[in-house]
Amino acid sequence: MTKCLRLLRHLPWTTQLRPALVQFQTRLKYTQHQGVKGIRNRKSFFEAQMQSGQQAESEQETDTGNGTDTLDMRFLDDRAYDEVAGGAMRISRDVATAQKVLILQPYVKWAAKRNTPDDVKPNDQLTEATALIHSLPNWKVVRGLKVPLESLERKALFGSGKMAELKTLVAELRQEQQLTCLFVSKGTLSFAQKHFLEAEFRLPVLDRYSVVIQILRLHATSAEARLQVAMAELPYIWAQAKDASMTQTRRQGYSLTDLQKEILRSRERKLRAELDRVRRQRQLLRQKRKQQNYPIAAVVGYTNAGKTSLIKALTVEDSLQPRNQLFATLDVTAHGGFLPCNLQLIYMDTVGFMSDLPTNLFECFVATLEDAMLADIIIHVQDLSHPCHAAQSAHVESTLRSLAFSIAGGDSTASHMPPIINVYNKCDLVPASAEPTAAEQEGSRRAAHRISARALTGLDPLLQDIERQVLAVTGRRKLQMRVPNGGPEMAWLYKNAAVVFTEADEKNPERLLMQVVICQRTLEQFKRQFC
Ligand code: GTP
Repeated sequence: MTKCLRLLRHLPWTTQLRPALVQFQTRLKYTQHQGVKGIRNRKSFFEAQMQSGQQAESEQETDTGNGTDTLDMRFLDDRAYDEVAGGAMRISRDVATAQKVLILQPYVKWAAKRNTPDDVKPNDQLTEATALIHSLPNWKVVRGLKVPLESLERKALFGSGKMAELKTLVAELRQEQQLTCLFVSKGTLSFAQKHFLEAEFRLPVLDRYSVVIQILRLHATSAEARLQVAMAELPYIWAQAKDASMTQTRRQGYSLTDLQKEILRSRERKLRAELDRVRRQRQLLRQKRKQQNYPIAAVVGYTNAGKTSLIKALTVEDSLQPRNQLFATLDVTAHGGFLPCNLQLIYMDTVGFMSDLPTNLFECFVATLEDAMLADIIIHVQDLSHPCHAAQSAHVESTLRSLAFSIAGGDSTASHMPPIINVYNKCDLVPASAEPTAAEQEGSRRAAHRISARALTGLDPLLQDIERQVLAVTGRRKLQMRVPNGGPEMAWLYKNAAVVFTEADEKNPERLLMQVVICQRTLEQFKRQFC
């Protein structure tokens, strides 16, 4: 039956039916495993497997944050802290407050003329800035402008002519469209820059760091993600306070009292303690997974590239809900799927990357990304339809390299990177007849799978490749074994190895031919027990 379904999925006229077929095939696997259909005595063989499957499921729950129930989270809701944070970041915890935003996308004139594939063009930066604002409910973009500059470091940021022009525009937009704030799409603005611009425009001014923090606050639902976001806020607040004291504008601007500094320090101590506990829990989970011997694939990529969608397509997990929002996933979650050889694989969904964000914003998520670096393979999902595809993937690759380096304690000789499978997603949005894009030409140094996680195309060759890499890296191999039909060997193999298929031995009806995927250690255990 499974073979028939696989064949059906390859026929061109079944494209429309594919999702249903994939789903049916997966359900069938499960029902077979429960013994509803299948060969003699299969139910009992699978009972043990189902038990370990249930264990894996409960592990998934722990991964999504429920395992952190024991954490004391009450200290996160602290009004005194909110006041300090609001003063530095110009955002409030109340994300329901509607905002009408003017986006200013600054770019350095001479830099925009350079034309390397890794450079993100000002137009694309503006599109990304718009997507950031659209990720916040009730926030609307009133207008977005690119503004050429001599340098991003000047206190006034804009020259006097440009400033006068912008002030007129801001005044008009305030009157006509009730503009409420400005978003200067630059990693971080120094305190001096922010203070100067706010005095000129008489409106709150946000930078990318504060906008991203607002999105992260909104999407952080698990205990672990909330802790990480809370931790990510602190370096920014300290930096703004330090900058304010250096610019000697304390009387007019932002400065911290001794009490406020103590509030920040004590919060940081508590956050570090709780995050350490989370880290230890993660290590325990990793060890547990290792003992269960499930291979693990970490799915990484730029934010919104389609990581969650790909996992949903490969596992047919209905509970996964891809969203067209930046930083929709903030927790590392584990999802079980099957490889074509029936080997169970755990896919880890991870937090997305984004360029032009200060590294310390993501430092707090490193603990969860460690899972990715310690996986058996990495699947790097890239949005091929995105105009900055090459720059985005270059950014992800360099972040992965620096993660591997920091996990190895700064020792480049010890840093380890699992094999990477490159996946070009959203091919349904790229005309099939189109010439390879500059991004693709640049990326053609590496082989990549062209897929669409939404239209479910290109998944079979991808799964074959994942299987090949997983078997190679975990030292598993496919073997044909001849065992007594219904005997204890058969039960043992169902319990301890992945069974690809079984068929009656034509030469000897009392024997069964089993193709299994098995690692050396398990094979030796089998031999010790039965040979
Ligand atoms: P983050 O969690 O924010 O990092 O996002 P992600 O990488 O997990 O992306 P996600 O799977 O949430 O998808 C983002 C958006 O892209 C959603 O609206 C998806 O429906 C859409 N999407 C994903 N894959 C495809 C695809 O193959 N084709 C098209 N057209 N859209 C896709």
